[in-house]
Amino acid sequence: MKEQILDSRSRPLRDLRISVTDRCNFRCTYCMPKSVFGRDFQFLPHEELLTFEEIARLSRVFAGLGVTKIRLTGGEPLLRRDLEKLVEMLAAIPGIRDLSLTTNGSLLASKALSLRAAGLHRVTVSLDSLDDATFRAMNDVEFPVARVLEGIEAALAAGFGPIKINMVVKRGVNEQDVVAMARRFRSPNYIVRFIEYMDVGNTNGWRLVDVVPAARIIEAINAEMPIAPTQPNYRGEVAGRYRYLDGGGEIGVIASVTQPFCHDCARARLSSEGLLYTCLFATHGHDFRELLRGGATDRDIDAFATGVWAGREDRYSELRGKATTEEPKVEMSHIGG
Ligand code: GTP
Ligand code: 5AD
Ligand code: SF4
Ligand code: SF4
Repeated sequence: MKEQILDSRSRPLRDLRISVTDRCNFRCTYCMPKSVFGRDFQFLPHEELLTFEEIARLSRVFAGLGVTKIRLTGGEPLLRRDLEKLVEMLAAIPGIRDLSLTTNGSLLASKALSLRAAGLHRVTVSLDSLDDATFRAMNDVEFPVARVLEGIEAALAAGFGPIKINMVVKRGVNEQDVVAMARRFRSPNYIVRFIEYMDVGNTNGWRLVDVVPAARIIEAINAEMPIAPTQPNYRGEVAGRYRYLDGGGEIGVIASVTQPFCHDCARARLSSEGLLYTCLFATHGHDFRELLRGGATDRDIDAFATGVWAGREDRYSELRGKATTEEPKVEMSHIGG
């Protein structure tokens, strides 16, 4: 492996998040509001998406630059046909020690076993409420919570435990469900992560008053089931970890608004059509598909990636509110969070 590449703030590149489709079967109001992502919305045609071979090739080059973690995202990644094949290809890349998937869980019940067999290491499921009415209102397609719970159980049965459950907490919408969520998944088999609602993309009408600060979430849980902070698993871990004092497992909080973590951010995001974004809030992507389809060698790709990373200055969350740019940001469904 080459020497680790560093960006302009001395941050390495460790974590590659790959979106395999811009489509989703949910319309979460904070991510793909129906008013924008309606019937007429033009998703990418299939030929514009990177093929599995292209994704695997890029991943091999990135592994050579120091990437050790890959996370598959979407939109909803399980909508991409034969995703297991891609999992198999990525799992075989030397240097990739952690291969995970973030999904809304809707198709997990039927896919958990084949994903496990293909070599996927971990699964994270997004779930915003255990209350069926609240959950349906948030996914906005009347998807019942019971089917996501079946997906989570199937993933556990397939050997994916401990399974992370992501809950985006929005004031006045699902804040009341925080403690119930913690209680339901209080077990070494699960790790619930409570995520502060963020101003990603341009379409969710984000307002600071809609954010429930992580400190409030911690307080509410601690009042019923005592918890204490614990050490991060690795440098730059996004979630702050808390463990139940009685040994019942752990939770996490992702406080990107009230406690930004840009100083250690080692993540790059690849969109389904091959644009590389160096921040969740980026306005521009770097076109790797053009390189791939224009006959570039691995060395050319390596040089381009090294240059992009060397020029990286992103720290959006640390600068939030100080209006870094007026340009539109990339949408969450494009790069998968
Ligand atoms: P682990 O590998 O298990 O530690 O997972 P992770 O926390 O990196 O991944 P996950 O995709 O589950 O992240 C959870 C959520 O945290 C994402 O969906 C985003 O909402 C948020 N998040 C992740 N990375 C970043 C980041 O770099 N910046 C910001 N602002 N938010 C992030
Ligand atoms: N703020 C915080 N988290 C978000 N996610 C999607 N949109 C937002 C937002 N505006 C989360 C999803 C999922 C992950 C991919 O990103 O709930 O868990
Ligand atoms: Fe789909 Fe996930 Fe966005 Fe919800 S948050 S609309 S499940 S991509
Ligand atoms: Fe990384 Fe950008 Fe998130 Fe900061 S805001 S942690 S730089 S992705």
